[in-house]
Amino acid sequence: MMTRRRPNRRETFNMMGIDTVVLPVAGNGSRMRPATDAIAKEMLPIYDTPLLQFALSEAAAAGARRIVLVTRASKPGFDKYIDHLAAQPDSFLAGVDVQFVEQDEPLGLGHAVLCARRCTLPGAIGVILPDDLILGEPALAEMAASFDPRRMKSLVAAQKVDRASVGSYGIFDIDGDDSIARVMPAHDLVEKPDPEKAPSQYAAVGRYVLAEEIWDQLERTGPGAGDEIQLTDAITALGGIHGFRFSGRRYDCGNKEGWFAATEAYRRSCLQSELTAAE
Ligand code: UTP
Repeated sequence: MMTRRRPNRRETFNMMGIDTVVLPVAGNGSRMRPATDAIAKEMLPIYDTPLLQFALSEAAAAGARRIVLVTRASKPGFDKYIDHLAAQPDSFLAGVDVQFVEQDEPLGLGHAVLCARRCTLPGAIGVILPDDLILGEPALAEMAASFDPRRMKSLVAAQKVDRASVGSYGIFDIDGDDSIARVMPAHDLVEKPDPEKAPSQYAAVGRYVLAEEIWDQLERTGPGAGDEIQLTDAITALGGIHGFRFSGRRYDCGNKEGWFAATEAYRRSCLQSELTAAE
């Protein structure tokens, strides 16, 4: 059951720990217009909670000591809200250093992540795309606990999707049997394949644990699909790709229907928690 979370720092799964988590929030949010003409996509509420807050608490639950927001001058307001959260009694941000870097132009997700390089602590990093909301168990914390730097260069959240939808995602080309393991070694991530040619039905969604080598690889990565610097291109060039089947339920809040479904689901879990608390 999904529960309304008041996450505590390092509360679950944090065996490995990821010191730095990057939150890219510099995108245009054009699919959520006109709302995003007035407010940043990441500040839109899911029922009563801004989308950004879920990402921050998930980063903290994964053990982040530093969170780097990659933002844009024309999307103000994040810092004030984060100060407000940090000032709450028993804040989940206690002891977490939140930093901001600017991406001057939206040149792609890979470029946005690379902008964070100079602010990160040594070691593997986590990346959360706040508009991919995962309710339930905090996915990045589960992934941090499963990341093995001796044999993995990346661990990417994997969600099974309908065959008809594979063309909207990067799809894992999995080594061997995908039916049992939670961690799935893969030799490729195929960007938006034709449904008939898709190597699996496992789609990459917005959570990543990336080995430190990703930085040099991103520096070498030129523009790809859509003329943008794609994070997926750097991940595939690095090799050592692994998919991870997370426990929670993911909602694509970058589009209106996904946002609405997330709002309904989170509302249900809030009301359920209130009922349980009243019993
Ligand atoms: P999306 O492509 O889903 O986000 O990028 P978008 O550009 O905000 O949305 P649309 O397509 O215009 O509706 C996924 C994530 O990557 C970030 C976005 O903020 C989002 O969290 N992103 C994307 C950047 O920070 N910079 C970029 O150049 C591109």
